[in-house]
Amino acid sequence: MSKPYNVAVLVGSLRKDSINRKLALALAELAPPELKLEIVEIGDLPLYNEDTDGDNAPAAYGPFRSKLKAADAVLFVTPEYNRSIPGAMKNAIDVGSRPYGQSGFSGKPGAVLSASPGAIGGFGANHHLRQCLVFLDVHVLQQPEAYLGGAGSFFDTDGALSDGIRPFLQKFIDAFAQWVARHAG
Ligand SMILES: Cc1cc2nc3c(=O)[nH]c(=O)nc-3n(C[C@H](O)[C@H](O)[C@H](O)COP(=O)(O)O)c2cc1C
Repeated sequence: MSKPYNVAVLVGSLRKDSINRKLALALAELAPPELKLEIVEIGDLPLYNEDTDGDNAPAAYGPFRSKLKAADAVLFVTPEYNRSIPGAMKNAIDVGSRPYGQSGFSGKPGAVLSASPGAIGGFGANHHLRQCLVFLDVHVLQQPEAYLGGAGSFFDTDGALSDGIRPFLQKFIDAFAQWVARHAG
């Protein structure tokens, strides 16, 4: 690992007290110095409509697409909604993938972490997201898989990360750092 690699982090929950946002911030702190994680906000992106893209694209699309294009890698941290990808996350993927031929995702290394207070840990969302990433030519970290169940206990009332989940997050972000170094252009 040598140069600092910039990682665009997309968080699939828009809620202020989101567990997934807290996990994204925890991963940013645990990341080795070669990996710089920055959350790229997706909550103000209007729903994708091909009729209003190109010259008429909504103003919020420009900065989002620029940040995505400038990133060396992408990390998705997401809850599961109705056994699939939250709409906000899917919309961000659609916006970032267009206009045709100008995707901000192509060829980049990536990883997916899903978390839920439920037992299955967002497995459905995680793998639906992976299906999109095949088409987008994102090279996705395979191991360790990250379906984090029981996420309601990951942070105490002061927002401190529990010791129970910390070692896994460290392992995950270290593996991702190695993956990015190997696959970033
Ligand atoms: C519309 C909606 C659908 C949901 N569907 C699921 C689901 O399919 N599986 C699951 O484990 N949790 C589901 N949940 C519960 C979320 O996992 C829980 O609200 C979680 O805390 C959301 O992540 P966040 O804390 O990052 O916002 C759903 C929540 C909402 C609002």
